[in-house]
Amino acid sequence: MPAKWEKNRNFARNYTLYHMEKHFKRTTITSALPYANGPVHIGHLAGVYVPADIYARYLRLKGRECLFIGGSDEHGVPVTIRARKEGITVQEVVDRYHNLIKDSFERFGISFDVYSRTTSKTHHKLASDFFRKLYDDGKFIEQVSEQFYDEQTGHFLTDRNIRGECPRCHAPEAYGDQCEKCGATLSPEELINPYNAETGNPLVKKPTKHWYLPLDKDQQWLEKWILEDHKEWRSNVYGQCKSWLDGGLRPRAVTRDLDWGIPVPIEGAEGKVLYVWFDAPIGYISNTKELCDAHPELGPWEKWWKDPETRLVHFIGKDNIVFHCIVFPAMLKAHGDYILPDNVPSNEFLNLEGNKISTSKNYAVWLNEYLDELPGRQDELRYVLTANAPETKDNDFTWDDFQARCNNELVAVYGNFVNRALQLTQKYYEGKVPECGELNDYDKETLAEFCDVKSRLEQLLEGFKFREAQKEAMNLARIGNKYIADCEPWKVVKTDPERVKTIIYLSLQITANLAIAFEPFLPFSSKRLREMICLTPTLSKGEGESLWELLGRTDILPAGKQLPKPELLFTKIEDEVVAQQKKKLEDTLKANEAAAYKAAPVKPTVSFEDFEKLDIRVGLVKSCEKVKKSKKLLKFILDDGSGQDRTILSGIAQWYEPERLVGKHVLFIANFAPRQMMGEESQGMILSAVNYNGDLSVTTVLDDVKGGSQVG
Ligand code: MF3
Ligand code: ZN
Repeated sequence: MPAKWEKNRNFARNYTLYHMEKHFKRTTITSALPYANGPVHIGHLAGVYVPADIYARYLRLKGRECLFIGGSDEHGVPVTIRARKEGITVQEVVDRYHNLIKDSFERFGISFDVYSRTTSKTHHKLASDFFRKLYDDGKFIEQVSEQFYDEQTGHFLTDRNIRGECPRCHAPEAYGDQCEKCGATLSPEELINPYNAETGNPLVKKPTKHWYLPLDKDQQWLEKWILEDHKEWRSNVYGQCKSWLDGGLRPRAVTRDLDWGIPVPIEGAEGKVLYVWFDAPIGYISNTKELCDAHPELGPWEKWWKDPETRLVHFIGKDNIVFHCIVFPAMLKAHGDYILPDNVPSNEFLNLEGNKISTSKNYAVWLNEYLDELPGRQDELRYVLTANAPETKDNDFTWDDFQARCNNELVAVYGNFVNRALQLTQKYYEGKVPECGELNDYDKETLAEFCDVKSRLEQLLEGFKFREAQKEAMNLARIGNKYIADCEPWKVVKTDPERVKTIIYLSLQITANLAIAFEPFLPFSSKRLREMICLTPTLSKGEGESLWELLGRTDILPAGKQLPKPELLFTKIEDEVVAQQKKKLEDTLKANEAAAYKAAPVKPTVSFEDFEKLDIRVGLVKSCEKVKKSKKLLKFILDDGSGQDRTILSGIAQWYEPERLVGKHVLFIANFAPRQMMGEESQGMILSAVNYNGDLSVTTVLDDVKGGSQVG
């Protein structure tokens, strides 16, 4: 191994992880608990689960003690709405989606140590005890306020469940928190004639008591803890916290009048439950407890939540920042004993083909459907979501970009290099790793280019820069590709067969490095590649060097090792697949538009005499063609029963191939004043329906009717 390389490796080892290894013994990684009101989609994956999984896999590869905690968030209002809509119980809704989500995470390779749920017994008890302790310690304030109430059902309503007339634009169905017509932010008090969104019943105001966390009292320590002590947090996270803090914190209610959730464990609170955002983050703790109770070798759960040598990291989306950086820490602090998060790497949002992803509008790429429709392509999606991760700003997922990245990067760079290296090994050495000869300057130059890949990857991963980190791994493949292409072993073999051994030897070492470097990002293909080069991991401490420690070395695969016949690591994404996926999304958009469409109000009444002034007739289309130099117009020749041809121009070229209309019976206004268009006279008007989206559709008659027949 070149001396320069060895020096760099040592430097890297000393340099990295200074912060982490000095202060922390272990890491508790949490990822936001998804609502069990629908399947997870690529927005969730890109924002939370893929980065959290990369991080967890990386720490494990390094042999560091960590737990990766997941679970479903099964309380709150949306699941109850879904249940009523579908006519099933809330329990059935959360069972269905919890199982679906859990199963798809597993198939996708999200490597949770535990994936439990907030309806579990353990969680109900822990969350309930947590509340009770804060209550007993006098941490809450009680307050009675007037809330909207449905006297017929006996329910208090949440903002989203209240509808009424918008005070600004007077749309009849504004929500209690927002008018979707004019976009105004509202409070339920402002609605004119508020009613229950589901039953339609009118609402009255009724006093009700709730418990509040007085966050105003936490203002000071939160300011110091975040704004001074955690300047290293991502700027989007830091910025959002700062603006909350600058605005001044106010008390927040932690209970709700609802019949789904964890009952408030005090007397006089019948019919009230813990607010979902109070219980859900406690779910991280409950799920850790469940895991540790079942696996004593992990130690007591408190070790993962109360020991100052444990580092807590929350992976979340940006709509969760205030809850994880302000509210939950305030809860933990009020309880006492608990550690606070050391970092909260939150991503921005991922859009889809230029539109917002929406669970309620069914506009998304759902993980379960992806897994069914593109089987065996987990790593392709993981790759693209990381390459395009919304780490610093919102980003857009498009199927074209997905295809381009898979075909031009995974297949053409990574897959191609590996395949060349392995195929040449088969061809020249019957699959045996050759001996390495004397390195020439070009070899050394190439090795120098990636000798510090380990330290670079570590720094990026420790800094939660997953996108850059994956690029670094891909760069290794680029280096390899260039090396083989420049060395041209297929030519050199004729003149200097000894030299080829060294070229292939080094190419195989780069291949082994790739398998390791991509392990946190693309676990499925790394595993396959490791099998192709017989590289078995020794992951746990005390069993020799961990796989990760080999990264950057050029003696990973010993000379003489017999490799099996290689397979392709990646295959192309075909155009049809992309076209199908795009069509599916377009169909959803169309369906949503159609569902949102409301017919225009009927025009003022006309008398029979007025109606009779219009002479509407049937015309048989004898010919139809595009009008030259016009994108819109079609020229019709109609048989109108007069024995003479009638010419009509109509602006529907965008929607019809002219041949399709020949022989059809259309309706036209025969006494419409003739008009000159594009140098031709149009003698009437052909009737078309205007679809909700502006598309035109020619009206025709069902049965055969002779041209010239009158309509009325
Ligand atoms: N269910 C929430 C969401 O999807 C996230 C809850 S995170 C937790 O936005 F901390 F509360 F668990
Ligand atoms: Zn409005």
